[in-house]
Amino acid sequence: MHIIISRHGESNYNLENRIGGDPSLSARGHEYGKRLAKYCKDNDVPEHLISSQLVRARQTVFYSSKIFSTYEICPELNEINAGVVEHLTYEEFKNRYPDEHKRRMNDKLNFRYLEGESYVDLIERTRPIVEEIVKTEKDTFIVCHRAVARALLFHLMKIDKKQVPHQEIPLHTILDLTGKPGEMNLTYHEI
Ligand code: F6P
Repeated sequence: MHIIISRHGESNYNLENRIGGDPSLSARGHEYGKRLAKYCKDNDVPEHLISSQLVRARQTVFYSSKIFSTYEICPELNEINAGVVEHLTYEEFKNRYPDEHKRRMNDKLNFRYLEGESYVDLIERTRPIVEEIVKTEKDTFIVCHRAVARALLFHLMKIDKKQVPHQEIPLHTILDLTGKPGEMNLTYHEI
């Protein structure tokens, strides 16, 4: 199978190191959306596109969605819900909720944000999406977010669960996965 995962382009919150929310793309983020469209035209990419429902993801696929045979918006691909910490910078999170911040540093996999989700929750939220892709054997292009991409990699590759929250998911880079789901091979292509 062939699965490609991309984070949305750079958002205005990425520029400020802010968590969550529903921000728009920065100018650089829009440029990435355009480069991604060119990449999809020039390369052999899956025909089925699914995207998170959040603005930054939908703005990223705006330039390329017509290239795909099918396009679906999936709220299950929305970024981890950071609860009370949504919209704060990582620095503000540390200063306002020092104990919570420490707990997260010590166990990022199991830490659940107050009124939000944990990586373990995210792994469960994204499981049906991967099961559907595997069942239908549909090569798929997925546009989502940093934490969600990590959860998806857990389902698609052999990764130690503890390492899930620490996987490298750079901006403006596609994660190209080939092989059998559960043991796929990953290549990064910066675009
Ligand atoms: O900073 C961008 C972002 O997508 C946040 O919205 C999200 O909470 C975070 O990354 C997830 O990464 P980490 O779990 O490493 O903080």
